[in-house]
Amino acid sequence: MDFLNLAKKRYSVRSYTEQPVEADKLEKILEAAHVAPTAANLQPIRLIVVQSEEGLAKVGKSANIYKAPLAIIVCADHEKAWVRPFDKKQSGDIDASILTDHMMLQATELGLGSVWICYFKPDILCEEFQLPANLEPVNILAIGYSAKGMGDTNRFDTQRIPVSQLVSYEKL
Ligand SMILES: Cc1cc2nc3c(=O)[nH]c(=O)nc-3n(C[C@H](O)[C@H](O)[C@H](O)COP(=O)(O)O)c2cc1C
Repeated sequence: MDFLNLAKKRYSVRSYTEQPVEADKLEKILEAAHVAPTAANLQPIRLIVVQSEEGLAKVGKSANIYKAPLAIIVCADHEKAWVRPFDKKQSGDIDASILTDHMMLQATELGLGSVWICYFKPDILCEEFQLPANLEPVNILAIGYSAKGMGDTNRFDTQRIPVSQLVSYEKL
């Protein structure tokens, strides 16, 4: 599929069927994360794949994951992430989000729905999964089969600001 069509097909799915995500599809999604770029190739990310009823209930204590059958917790390792020397800005969140986006688009290509989740209680997530202090959960990606079909690929005229507001050339 043409990349732009794929990107337009993706939308935030907030209603899932009970059908589990097949192992081969999960493997591909994780491979998409594996090949993603990170700052200085330091790869400061850990992914926690959660599919068991017990595990999903633990994730559900910290966030609404819309009853998705699969959640991937994307954690940044603050001891490993690149730091820009000039202002000490750390790339962990950025790296985590690149992996998340790769996985989200790979899921779309496989006919799966997903929703990116940042509205979670980090303290609860850290406690439930016994995360060490250096690992910060940055995103949760919920994945499964959409109960509401595919997204409307023509929705961007109304659901996004005009390109002219997004982009300027040579100066702001
Ligand atoms: C960084 C980030 C955080 C988000 N957090 C949540 C969230 O916690 N819960 C949720 O339902 N959707 C969340 N979303 C989904 C956005 O609300 C959604 O992408 C946006 O409204 C555009 O809609 P679309 O994804 O259907 O194109 C998040 C998206 C991003 C990129």
